[in-house]
Amino acid sequence: MRIMSRLVGLLAGAALLAHAVPVAAQAEYPARPITLIVPFAAGGPTDIVARIVADHMSKTLGQQLVIENVVGAGGTTASTRAMRATNDGYTIIMGHMGTHAASVALYPKLAYHPSKDFETIGLAAGTPILIVARKDFPAKDLKDFVSYVKANADKMNMAHAGVGSVSFTTCLLLNSLMGVKPTAIPFQGTGPALNALVGGQVDYMCDQIVNLVPQIKAGNIKAYAIGTPERNPALPDVPTSKEAGLPAFHAVAWNALFAPKGTPKPVLDKLTAALDKALDDEATRKRLFDLGSDIPGKDRRGQEALSKLVTSEIDKWSPIIKASGITQ
Ligand code: MLT
Repeated sequence: MRIMSRLVGLLAGAALLAHAVPVAAQAEYPARPITLIVPFAAGGPTDIVARIVADHMSKTLGQQLVIENVVGAGGTTASTRAMRATNDGYTIIMGHMGTHAASVALYPKLAYHPSKDFETIGLAAGTPILIVARKDFPAKDLKDFVSYVKANADKMNMAHAGVGSVSFTTCLLLNSLMGVKPTAIPFQGTGPALNALVGGQVDYMCDQIVNLVPQIKAGNIKAYAIGTPERNPALPDVPTSKEAGLPAFHAVAWNALFAPKGTPKPVLDKLTAALDKALDDEATRKRLFDLGSDIPGKDRRGQEALSKLVTSEIDKWSPIIKASGITQ
């Protein structure tokens, strides 16, 4: 009997010790660099937003946020890896409307659920979607674009970043509005997809503004419309989809930081506070604003607001995706 009680005592002590270490570690957090997983290739919009906010967060936290680009399956490969990472605050992910909302309907057997398997840190940036095409595309405006695509759908190549990506999901909406099913060409991110568009190897895509501003301004691609109610100050000459005659194309994405479920609250709060400071920093705001980002006001920041956004976005995109009949 004595052996059993000693064994129980040892197990209880071990459990307490195990619990004590995380508490002590939380106070020192972060004691080493933090991995920030970006679910797409370097140079794309998710990578761009991640690097901009990570630059300032690293200063606040006193440790480097090290970007790790993990590609595949429209960002769900990386999201699954992040979900399975140790929940100590040293692995976080820059997710977005695709990985943490649209993917739920696109992948019925998805390994994670955005609302159940992650802790929210906060929204980083809203990223309006533009309909863009190669610079010699034979359409002078969106109405011409729609007519041409409908008449030549079997010859059209549409670029995207994988099933589950923002580019895939928002062009699913555009294609359903046009009643076409073009050849969909997947890339490991819309960074590489944009290179192909500039090179004329693909015909069009739907992408986040932060990736597109320099190429549109340089005249290397054509922009037909932006999927927001108002024009964007970074691209004042690009008409809204309503002005251009396709009001049903309302498409805005967002990028946000998440941590694995069970990451301790004091650690999450340090990350949320650092993101908040980055979004209040003038230089950081200018970098995001100049690329057309919608920088969230205080009411849209923080853990609770992001949880609500994820739920509402899953509810918004799931019926659109189900109506398209495209699931994996
Ligand atoms: C990217 O960062 O490459 C994009 O977010 C991909 C996408 O979601 O379209």
